[in-house]
This record gives sequence, structure tokens and C-alpha cells, in this order.
Amino acid sequence: MSTPNLVLNLGTDEPLPITRGRLLDFPDDPIACMRKLNSRHGNVAALEDEGQRVYFAFGPELNHQILSDGTTFHSQFFAIRGSRNSPQRHLTSGLLSMNGEVHKRQRRLVMDAFLKKAILNYVPTVRQLTEEMVSQWKPGDERDINRDMTDFMLRLTSTILFGIDDVEMAYRIGHMIDHWVHMNHELGMGAFVANQGIANRYGELLEYAGKLEVEIKSMISQRKSNPTGRDALSLMISAHDEQGSISDQELIGQSALMFGAAHLTTAHTLAWTLFLLAEHPSVMTELHHELNTELDGGFPGVEQIDRLHCTERVVKESMRILPASSYSQRVNAVATQLGPFALAPGAGIVFSQFMTHHMPELYPNPEEFRPERWLTINPSPYEYLPFGAGPRMCIGAPLAMMILKSVLPTILQRFKVTALPMSEVSGKVISTMLCPTTALMMRLDEQDGRFESHPVRGNIHDMVDLREVRRSVRKAA
Ligand code: HEM
Repeated sequence: MSTPNLVLNLGTDEPLPITRGRLLDFPDDPIACMRKLNSRHGNVAALEDEGQRVYFAFGPELNHQILSDGTTFHSQFFAIRGSRNSPQRHLTSGLLSMNGEVHKRQRRLVMDAFLKKAILNYVPTVRQLTEEMVSQWKPGDERDINRDMTDFMLRLTSTILFGIDDVEMAYRIGHMIDHWVHMNHELGMGAFVANQGIANRYGELLEYAGKLEVEIKSMISQRKSNPTGRDALSLMISAHDEQGSISDQELIGQSALMFGAAHLTTAHTLAWTLFLLAEHPSVMTELHHELNTELDGGFPGVEQIDRLHCTERVVKESMRILPASSYSQRVNAVATQLGPFALAPGAGIVFSQFMTHHMPELYPNPEEFRPERWLTINPSPYEYLPFGAGPRMCIGAPLAMMILKSVLPTILQRFKVTALPMSEVSGKVISTMLCPTTALMMRLDEQDGRFESHPVRGNIHDMVDLREVRRSVRKAA
């Protein structure tokens, strides 16, 4: 990022917090870019490239301003919307592309599929798929745990959303949406650079969107002809209010969004949490004690989950330090003031979970993974926001928490997980999600309650202070 040129705020003659540089610095490395802007300018900053600006808002007060006011700050999903009435447009027309009354009504309707009553119906599926996965693992295996969690979540998300009663079709559609999401991410990143390769891939994306839409339409009509289904799609089909039910076209957009929103976020949270536990033997020892005391070796029952307080702290701390959703953006629909900037309508504004969760004034020693901090802190919804906050907070949060708090204990009662010594562990925010970018190699052993950690390489050290590894090695010596 280049040195900022001085741009004066005409009202006060103060310099405006603008860095002139490449806009591509942001998608290239979002965390490094946000950290530089924050340390150079404070809590409001802009990155400017040839007259085009992206604004950045860091910290709880600005999170509150932006996230609590859905009238001023609109959500604008996906750069690649496709032309009107195209399959690409339909597939990208889920909740995140809606605003105002349309969003409010649609959110109320789809919510039925994510209330406690519905979630209880999904538990047997979570249990079955978790037990299947764990039964295929053997002590001594060395596995890419992120790959495993991603495959597991692909099966689980497909089944819960589309096919508790028709698993084959659900998997096929889940795979297709996954592929389509990847194509969108790749093209979204390349959209800044005009070249023939990207133009060809844009054509491929539109063609694939056409095939995917046909599959989803046929799944919807099948569910409509057999309205007894227990999956989320069936619940969305039967949801209605005084204005009617969700249209087929809306169901297509909601199905694609739900899958995209649920699959990788939960998979990466599972993988990061297992890695953090492997690197923190003292935390793992306390967790092991809880699982031994509260559970009986298998998948936790619903009432048992509520008693797993240490598990809850571990999951909260993992989503604080490595939030799967690390930033998001809004566009202001009307003129507004953001810090020293008077924004004309249409400005792009980034807010960040990662930056908020790493503020030392909110979380002392923010780079340390310390689940016990949750015994004494109670942050506001704008200080701790792994699932977002305000009127478009994640509707899948209770479902995700149920999955995390039952799958992790099931794995950890059976297996001890250890990172491979000196393996590389790196991550990057890709399209708002903090993803492992290398294989997350872990060794699985029969659980014996004796924990030790191993040093690893990679940029994980820029995000998490792993000195406990060194401290415990020193203590043992
Ligand atoms: C650990 C897992 C998850 C994380 C970290 C996560 C995170 C988030 C975040 C941060 C937002 C707000 C985005 C914004 O304000 O721009 C969001 C929205 C959303 N999430 Fe999740 N999510 C997770 C799991 C799920 C699951 C399991 C579902 C279920 C299908 C889901 C469905 C949605 C939907 C539909 C929205 C849009 C809500 C709206 O615009 O009204 N998410 N999620």
C-alpha cells in the first residue's frame, strides 16, 4: 500500500484518513490491508484507487451505526448478479440480496426452518453423519482435518437443507452449489482485471448457473408433490403469511444462499477449533475433563449439550480469534456521515469481525486463545459478532452452534488430535471467509487424556499467539 497523500476535510481543514493505493490490495490480503489502514488512520479509513474509494469502519461503535440501521446501510450480495431473469440472477437472489420490507418479510418466512423446533428434527441427521465420519477414522491416521470437515459439512448441509428424505439428490445439488460458489468466488476476485480468460469463464459460470437452476427447480417441484418432508426446503415451501408463500423463484435464491452461507463457515470453524485445541494442551485438558464428566463416550443428547460450559467457551473463543466470517460489506442507500466522511449514496463500506475481535481494549492480549476469558466478559452484540448483528444477523446461528457443540465433543471423546510437527498452517480471507489455505494436517490417536502440542509454521502466527507450545516445552524441560 502506498503512502497516503494529504486530502483535506473541507469542513475542518483536517486531513481525511485516506490511503491512496491499489484497491486490489484488499482482496489480495484483507487482514493485512485492514490492519495497515487501522494503524495508520484509526477507526474510519478509506482506500482510494483512481478516484474509486472503499471505506472501512472498525470497532463496536461503527459496527452499531452500520449494522443496526438497515434503512441507510444496504446489503449488496455478490458482484456477479447476471442479467434480469437469468438463472444467475435467480440464484443470487437470496436474503443477502434483499433489503427493506422485502427482506423483513422473506426473513420471517424462511426463519421457520431455523427455529428450535426445526433444529431438533435435524439432530438425528447430525448424529448419524458424525458417527459415520468418526467410525471411518483410525488411530494413527494423519488427515487434512479441514478437508474432512468440508466434506462432512457438504453432506450435512445438503441433507438438512434439501433431503433428509432423499439424500442422493440432496448431495448432487449440494455438490453443484458448492462448485457454483467456487466459480463465483474465482470470478469475483478476477473481476478487476479484464482479460479473455475471465470473459470465457464468465460464460461458463452463466451456463453452469442454468444447469443448477434446472436441478433446484426439479427438487422444488418434487418436494411440492410430496409435502411431508422434514428438511429446511420443505419447511420453507410450507411457510406462508397473509401475503402468501415464498415463490419458486425466491426459493431458488434462498436455497443457493442457505447452502453457501452454512457449508464452509461451519466447516472452517470446526477445523480451526480442532487446530486451536491441538495447540493448547491446558485448554484441551480442561475440556477433556468436562467431556468425561458430562458425556458417556458418544454423541451428546440435547439436554447434555446445555451442560457443556467449557465446550461453549472454547467455541466462542475460537470464533473470536479466527472468525470464519471475517468481514462483510454494506452500501449506503442514502447520503450519510461515516466519521469524517460525508458519503454520497452508493459507497461501499467494509466492517470487520476479525478487526473488532482483535481489539486489545475489548479483549486483552487478543492474539491469545484463552477460553477462560469468557468466564468474566460479556461483550455487547457489536463487540462480539461472529454471526453478524442487527436485523440481518445470521439466521443459522443456533443451528451452527448445535452442530459445533455436538460434533466437536463426539470427535474429541474418541480421538486425540495433534498438529503434525512443523507442518504449515496458513489462512486467508477469501470472499469474506477466513479459510485455511494449506492442508490442516493433524494426527489422530486413541483418546488417552495426555496432551502435548507441536510447533507449526505458517502465517497462523500473524493471527494467533501460539507461545503456549513453547511455554509447555520449556516447563517439561
Ligand atoms: C459457524 C457458522 C456460521 C457463521 C460464522 C455465519 C456467519 C454469518 C454472518 C456474519 C452473517 C451476517 C452477514 C452480514 O451481516 O453481512 C450471516 C448471515 C446469514 N447466515 Fe450465517 N453463519 C454461519 C452458519 C450459517 C448456517 C448454518 C446457516 C443456515 C442455513 C446460515 C445462514 C445465513 C443466512 C441466510 C444469512 C443472511 C441473513 C440475512 O441477510 O437476513 N449461516 N451468517
